Amino acid sequence: MRAAVRSTSLALAASLAACAPAARDRGVSPDAPLAARMKVADAGAGRAVFRQCAACHTINEGTGDRDGPNLYGVTRAQVGHNSQRFGYTAALQSVGGAWSCERLDRWLTNPAAFAPGTSMHFPGLRDGLTRADVIAYLYANGGGKLDCS
Ligand code: HEC
Repeated sequence: MRAAVRSTSLALAASLAACAPAARDRGVSPDAPLAARMKVADAGAGRAVFRQCAACHTINEGTGDRDGPNLYGVTRAQVGHNSQRFGYTAALQSVGGAWSCERLDRWLTNPAAFAPGTSMHFPGLRDGLTRADVIAYLYANGGGKLDCS
C-alpha cells in the first residue's frame, strides 16, 4: 500500500519535472518581456492550451458563440466586439480600442484585472510562455500578421 502511494507520487514528481525543462529549452524565461516570449511562441502548443478555452469559445471561422464569443479573427477586432451576436459586458466593451499582443497578454494573465466586472470567469494563465503560445494560436486563426515587437 505504502509502496503504491510512493510510486504514484514519484511518477507525479517525474511528470512535473518533465514540464520544467521544456520551458528552459526555449531559452526564454516565462517572465521575459512579451516580444522575447513571442519570438519563441508556438501556435501548435497554443492549440493544446486552447482546450482550456474551448469550454467557452469556438475558434473556427463562422462557428457560433458558447458561454464566450467565437474567437476567429479576434486579434483584428475591437475589444469586446469580435462576435456580432454575443452579449458582452459593459465592463469589456468600455475598454475601447483594438486588441493587441500586449493587451491579450494582460487579459489572459488576469481577465478580471484587465476588465473588472467581465463575465469571462477564468483565473488566467500564469505562465508567460503558455500565454505567448495561445496568443500565437489566436493570430494563426484569422489574425493576419503576427507583429508583437
Ligand atoms: C468560463 C468560460 C470562459 C473560458 C474558460 C475562457 N473564456 Fe474568454 N471569454 C469568456 C466570456 C464570457 C467572454 C466575454 C467577456 C465579457 O463580455 O466581459 C470572453 C472573452 C474573451 C475574449 C475577448 C473577445 C472579444 O470579442 O473581444 C478573448 C480574446 C478571450 N475571451 C480569450 C480566451 C482564451 C484565449 C481563453 C483560454 C486561455 C479563454 N478566453 C477562456 C468566457 C471564457
